Amino acid sequence: MMSGFDSRDKVEEEVAAWLEKRVSVGRYLHSLGVREAVTGLAQKYGVDPRPLRLAALFHDCMRELSGPELLALAAKWSVKVRDVDRQAPVLLHARLAAELARREFRLADPRMVSAIEYHTTGNRGMSLSDKLFFIADHIEPGRDHPLVLKLRLAAYEDVDRAVLESIRMSERHLRSAGAVIDPETIRLKQHLQENMGGAGSGNGA
Ligand SMILES: [Fe+2]
Ligand SMILES: [Fe+2]
Repeated sequence: MMSGFDSRDKVEEEVAAWLEKRVSVGRYLHSLGVREAVTGLAQKYGVDPRPLRLAALFHDCMRELSGPELLALAAKWSVKVRDVDRQAPVLLHARLAAELARREFRLADPRMVSAIEYHTTGNRGMSLSDKLFFIADHIEPGRDHPLVLKLRLAAYEDVDRAVLESIRMSERHLRSAGAVIDPETIRLKQHLQENMGGAGSGNGA
């Protein structure tokens, strides 16, 4: 049984071995990349990296399930399903991953849980640790999008600007794919833009 972070290397090792069997190689490497990226950011900003390293291993463990599978699991586990989740069930992979960590590994550190839950959509009430995780998902070493370098620099200069840039990047991607954008993400974007006094709004996106 796992509890706390005293034997964190062992817990991490166990979760990593479990994840490797569960997802594709690409997804597994992405998760390890997020763990590396978030560790660097956590050190830079003085945030405890341990819950975020575990969050990295869990965050996309449900990402390869189909829409119907995600909806069925949410019903089975009584995980909240919003209207937008019915339109885009892929959004559920985040909350279901947090639920899995709790059910199968008895891991429920609130910092780990919220990093996992908000890694896709963000949330206006995000903590610094949530924001670092959100950014790490976009800048991990395996990402090779042309704007990633800019985002990596922003991440080390200004967390809110990096979150905003990450949202703009995924928004462009989602719009071009004709996919649904979570209303909470739009609210977070507006919130960040207002708080930054419009400084980050000159990017035409
Ligand atoms: Fe994800
Ligand atoms: Fe991810």
